[in-house]
Amino acid sequence: MRCAVAVMTALLLAAGVVEAQELTRGPFLQLGATDSMVVVWRTAAPLTGAVEYGPDAGLGLSVESPAPSTEHAVALTGLSAGTEYHYRVLSGGVVVADGLRFRTFPGPASAGEFRVVVVGDTGTGNQAQLDVAAGIRLSAPDVGIHTGDFIYPRGGSDLEMDRKYFGIYAETISRSVIYPTVGNHDLDDGGTVFFGSFHLPDDSPGGERYYSFEYGDALFLILDSNQGMGVGTAQHAWIEEQLAGSRKLWKVVSLHHPLYAAWLAVEANRRVLDPLFARYGVDLVFQAHAHFYERFYPMRNGRAVATGEDPDYQDPDAPIYVVTGGGGGSLAQRNPGANTAYYASVYHHVRLDFQGSRLLLSAVGRDNQVFDNMSISKVVAPVFRRGDTDGDGELLITDAVRILNYLFLGGALISCLEAANFDNSESVDISDGIHVLNYLFRGGPPPAPPGPLPGGCGPDPDAPGGPGDLGCEEYSGC
Ligand SMILES: [Fe+2]
Repeated sequence: MRCAVAVMTALLLAAGVVEAQELTRGPFLQLGATDSMVVVWRTAAPLTGAVEYGPDAGLGLSVESPAPSTEHAVALTGLSAGTEYHYRVLSGGVVVADGLRFRTFPGPASAGEFRVVVVGDTGTGNQAQLDVAAGIRLSAPDVGIHTGDFIYPRGGSDLEMDRKYFGIYAETISRSVIYPTVGNHDLDDGGTVFFGSFHLPDDSPGGERYYSFEYGDALFLILDSNQGMGVGTAQHAWIEEQLAGSRKLWKVVSLHHPLYAAWLAVEANRRVLDPLFARYGVDLVFQAHAHFYERFYPMRNGRAVATGEDPDYQDPDAPIYVVTGGGGGSLAQRNPGANTAYYASVYHHVRLDFQGSRLLLSAVGRDNQVFDNMSISKVVAPVFRRGDTDGDGELLITDAVRILNYLFLGGALISCLEAANFDNSESVDISDGIHVLNYLFRGGPPPAPPGPLPGGCGPDPDAPGGPGDLGCEEYSGC
C-alpha cells in the first residue's frame, strides 16, 4: 500500500495537484515528557524539515530535520516542565503549519490539575466519529489515550489511517499527545501501519507493544491484550514491576480486550490481572472492543465492593473498570449484569479530571452532553520534608521566603512549624531560610532527615515507603 501511495503521490505531484512540501499527515505530538516533545509529520515528497519553537509567539529556537525525507520526527529537548510552547513546521524552507502550541508534561512532584481524554474503537470516518472527535477537541485534554482499533472495517493502510485518524483528530493531536493502545484490528496487517504511524516508549520487554508513561501524579500502563498476559509471561512480570515500583497517587490501565464487560470479556485475562490490579492499587482500567459505554462498580476478584458509595467513591481500594468502545465503530447492544453501575450503548468519549487527591470521570456523548459521572477521592497523608513549608513535596524559593516572612513579618507557615526547621536545629531561625537558598542555588547540603516529629506534621514520614520517604540519596548520613 505504501508503494501505491507513493505512485499516486508522484502522479499528483507531476500533475501539479499537490505541492511537494504539502503535509499529508500531521504535525502531531509524540513521546511527551517534562523536558522534551517530539513533533511528527509527513510530506508529499522528500524534503528537509524544521521545527521553530519558543515560549511565546516570537519562537526563536529551531531544530532541523536535514535529511530529505517524507517522514520527519523532530525531538525538541531542553524544555521546561509544565510550560507552554509555541511552534510551527517548515518543509523545504516553507512554513506549512503555523500558530501551534503544546504544553510539556508537569514535573514529577507536581500533583496539580490536568485533564485526560479516553476514546476507542473509532475508525469508521462516519458522522458519529466526527461528532465524538469534535467533543474531544472541546474537552481540550492535556494528554489522551486511545483504547485501540483505529481503522474499520478491517486492518488498514496509510491512506485509511490518514483519513480515519490523523485527519479527524488533527487539531487535538497537534497540541496533546494521544497514546495508542493496540487493538485487534490494528494487527490485521501485522501492525505495519499502526507501528509505522506512532513513536512510542519502547523500553518494555514488548517494545512498543506495551509501555508506560507518567503525567503529574499519575502512572499510565498501556497494555497489549492481543498477546499473552498470564502469569509467567513477560508482559505480566512487567506489569507487576511497573505497578510495584510506582509511588504515583493514581494508577490507570488501558487494554483493548475487556476484562469486565457485558460482551466479549476475556475471562482468562480477568483471572490473572484482576488480583494484580487490586493488589497494587490500580484506580481505573479502560477497555474497548465492545462498542458501548459501561462502567462497573469497584471490582475485586470478581465481586463488586463499595456499591453503596456510587457514584462518588472514597478510597474504594479496588479498580473501577470502564468499557469505552463508542468512538465511532458501529454500536452494540447488550444486557449488563448486576456489577454494572452504568451502561449505555452510545457514541462517546471519557474525560478524566485529575484534581490533586480527587479524580472526576465524565462520559460525554456525541452531542457533547455528559451522561455519566463518577468520582474517586483519596485521603492523602501530608508530605513532610524539612524546608518544604507548604507541604507540596517540593523545595522552592517560595519556601525560603515563607520562612523569612514567618520570622520577621509574622507570616504564616502552611505546613507544620517543624517543616521550616531545615537543619533540624533547636529552633527555626534565619539560618533555615539561608540553608534553603544555599541548597537550591549553590549546591549546599540537603535538608536534614525528618526524625521524630511533633503532632500536626502527619504520620511518621521517615518510615520506609511513608509519605516523606524520599530515598536515602536525598539525605546525608542515612
Ligand atoms: Fe476490537
